[in-house]
Amino acid sequence: MSIFFLMRFFILFFVSIFIISCTNNYNPTVVSARKDASEIGLKIMEDGGNAFDAMIAVQLALSVSHPTAGNISGGGFMVYKLSDGSEGSLDFREKAPNSSSADMYLDEDGNVISGLSSLGGLAVGVPGTISAIFDIHEKFGLLPIEDLFKPSIELAENGFLVTKYLEDELNEKRNVFIMMNGEESLYSKNYREGDTIKNNNYAQTLIKIMNEGKDGFYSGEVAEDMIETISKKGGIMTLSDLLDYESIWREPVKFKYKDYDIISMSFPSSGGILLGQMMKAIEKFDLSEIPHNSAEYIQLLTEIERRAFADRSDLMGDPDFMNLPVYEFMDEEYIEDRMKSFSWEEATPSSEIKPGEVIFNESDETTHFSIIDKNGNAVSVTTTLNNSFGSKVYVENSGFFLNNEMDDFSSKPGFPNFFGVLGSEANSIQPGKRMLSAMTPTIVLKNNKPKLILGSPGGPSIITSVFQTILNVIEYEMDVNEAVSAPRFHHQWYPDLIVMEENVSSYEVDSVLKSKNYLLVKLPIEEDTLGVYKRSNIGAVDAILIDDFKNVSGGADSRREHYTSSVE
Ligand code: DON
Repeated sequence: MSIFFLMRFFILFFVSIFIISCTNNYNPTVVSARKDASEIGLKIMEDGGNAFDAMIAVQLALSVSHPTAGNISGGGFMVYKLSDGSEGSLDFREKAPNSSSADMYLDEDGNVISGLSSLGGLAVGVPGTISAIFDIHEKFGLLPIEDLFKPSIELAENGFLVTKYLEDELNEKRNVFIMMNGEESLYSKNYREGDTIKNNNYAQTLIKIMNEGKDGFYSGEVAEDMIETISKKGGIMTLSDLLDYESIWREPVKFKYKDYDIISMSFPSSGGILLGQMMKAIEKFDLSEIPHNSAEYIQLLTEIERRAFADRSDLMGDPDFMNLPVYEFMDEEYIEDRMKSFSWEEATPSSEIKPGEVIFNESDETTHFSIIDKNGNAVSVTTTLNNSFGSKVYVENSGFFLNNEMDDFSSKPGFPNFFGVLGSEANSIQPGKRMLSAMTPTIVLKNNKPKLILGSPGGPSIITSVFQTILNVIEYEMDVNEAVSAPRFHHQWYPDLIVMEENVSSYEVDSVLKSKNYLLVKLPIEEDTLGVYKRSNIGAVDAILIDDFKNVSGGADSRREHYTSSVE
């Protein structure tokens, strides 16, 4: 074979690859926690909608069929990357009601009253989701809003399927529902896998909002119903709190990891900033020398996570209420300094790690979904009521649960919230303030194009789940399903222990870690112990991976029910 022939072959080969990658479209894909929601999102894109239209339709569908976390009465964050190269994020986090105060969960002696910030009317933050839906539609929507609401209205009217996961969740919470909302409440009834639940009251609510826009939720009948229910259950939210709510377009946080650019959510989520700190810290180590989930790997990531979470506890909160630097937290010198006390020989006790000195310049159920449309617009959304079914308060006539996001504030400095994370003054309750979040909707870019769209539920372990999944893809070359399902572990500074999924490590690996003074807690745990809440695994990542030739694959975490819908 002549050298000219070979040269011609290679030139032709690379030119055709270049042409293919410039001209062909992406396979529209949705990965979410429900089959019906993923299918609705995909259909919207097949009917001419873009990723934002699909986002709205998926958010609404999840609010019908995934009542543990899907919502119109909660909040969340969206990070996006447009096919024209621009990027942004929307903060639709809940806010503290105007008459809230720093000591609202304390008794006369200044002690935290157990359950007050997480159960009942006082736990509810002013919801952001409906504001987001209409803001997103106004800025990016292609299809009429009716087309985006109708599939969910039909789902609520015709009924949605009770899956095994939903049956278990409903069973576990039934007694609390009965206590909170009475025996006759829709979700106090006994449902089994295979049943369908019709929610006509909710269908009517969606119709009102579809016809009236934001006003259909933040004022009028639905708003009055919400406020009446909240005050009956001991809450303080008022109609004017609802009228005041606005979602906010914010700069996403953006940082480099090797050849990749990563965009994620900035304050009031700590997610993107902690992820940046962790990626910057690990970049200094040669992971090709460190096997995945080996004792060295678990040790290194633990020490990185410990230091990042220490910063979160003391320094982070709502940027509209304090001067908060962003990039100082992931400054190379700062991170290097934080890692100086790391030793391969032994665990660094959390008591020896204080929140860092960053220069402040003057000046138990969430859900994630990832979407890409045919033009390559990428959307990453994490949304929640906080715990499973939020405050457990159900607005019967309007057909939805209310969030308990107030528990994400620090009720008292140094007192752990449900997820065991500590907070301080920076995250204390103030009227109108947004509570600090760990939600980490993220897009990893290669050559300024989406490579990985991902996020997770799991409270603080959202951040470590996203961190480890990115490393699984970039450093350990896993395909997207392996990457989201690979066993995980988590450290959050306090409690000072590594929470580990059962299959993450062998007896030998555990022995090495124990010999270095690491305290290990293996999941599942049936009861809260050592400051770790009852749970069986860590996070549930929904991801979309796009290769260099625009091939799209959805990764649905095997830990929970998740579904990829994609045009074949
Ligand atoms: O914003 C936060 O960090 C929490 N409200 C997230 C809650 C969560 O992920 C529950 N899921 N398992």
